[in-house]
Amino acid sequence: MIKPSGACGVRMAGTGSAVPEKILTNDDLSRILDTTDEWITQRTGIRCRRVSDQSKEGTFTLSRDALRRALDAASMKASDLDLLIIGTCTAEMRCPSLACRVAGDVGAINAGAFDVTAACSGFVYALNVAETMVRSGRYKNVGVIGADAMSTMVDYQDRSVSILFGDAAGAAILVPDPDLNRGCIYQTLGSDGRDWTGLYIPNRAQEVPEADKDNPIRLGYLRMDGREIFKFAVSKFREVIADALEKTGLTADDISQIVCHQSNARIIENAIEKLKLPREKVLINIDQYGNSSAGSVGLCLDQVWRAGKVPAGKPMILVAFGGGVTWASNVWNV
Ligand code: COA
Repeated sequence: MIKPSGACGVRMAGTGSAVPEKILTNDDLSRILDTTDEWITQRTGIRCRRVSDQSKEGTFTLSRDALRRALDAASMKASDLDLLIIGTCTAEMRCPSLACRVAGDVGAINAGAFDVTAACSGFVYALNVAETMVRSGRYKNVGVIGADAMSTMVDYQDRSVSILFGDAAGAAILVPDPDLNRGCIYQTLGSDGRDWTGLYIPNRAQEVPEADKDNPIRLGYLRMDGREIFKFAVSKFREVIADALEKTGLTADDISQIVCHQSNARIIENAIEKLKLPREKVLINIDQYGNSSAGSVGLCLDQVWRAGKVPAGKPMILVAFGGGVTWASNVWNV
């Protein structure tokens, strides 16, 4: 197995998550769109998703609540943090960063704070950056959040994209550990920006490529080439997990959990089947939450962490892919 280097190891001291209360079912959608519960369930595995009440919630409140829960789980105060990184593509404001607003609200005063934009890969991107900074010895207590309120970014007049997405946030607190083997033993960050039109949110007509000019989805809302993204996700997802196992010399038996982005149950099932992964080691919660973009991996992590499914001494793999197109993995020795 790979021997990590650096000034120290890294321990995950606590995790947290937050979702809005409001549940939007497939039947609810079938009342406003030309779709059915049967179509959505069969093609995606999604039965319902959580959506924000935009008058009082969104990416900011979900991030804040997830962070507070992670701090509680770590028995730490916000003022103990010296850095906060948020992976998101739905921050309410372009300036200041979402991380600054959340840090200010919870009381992480003087902590460094910045956002990372990598669409659905946002949490794993932020985790990889945070882990590297703690491991270097330059930063001690770092909060990592993945959060998106995708319900604010989908056009509910269009059935092709809106049925997939929901809102969520997940958070983790990283702290230094004297054991160098603790924390991330292997990670990847990847992108292929040539394929950005597969999933994008244009604000101005001049940004829309000629081939997508007739897309009925309104400006300011998420556009997606579902079939292309499906093909990309199926092959990339398998490739990234296989690479993480190969490079670390681990087998699926050595791993406690593969914590993966929830984009479509068929994509996850495909990886389970082709890589012969033990089904009980891959949480699928897309039926309840839909695709919550950068919120999804952090939400899954919090669920498996609190359920005691990622015990110390056994590595877990975190894996995500999304718009950009981007992908990321992290093999974490708990
Ligand atoms: N309800 C009913 N019918 C629908 C529909 C809906 N919500 N959305 C599309 N359809 C129709 C299409 O119009 C099409 O009809 P046609 O055959 O008469 O033209 C038919 O269903 C098949 O459409 P298609 O787009 O080929 O379906 P699909 O099997 O590829 O499923 C997705 C569509 C979006 C579920 C699937 O492509 C997907 O999951 N892609 C990946 C998306 C993703 O993971 N994005 C996030 C990445 S992080």
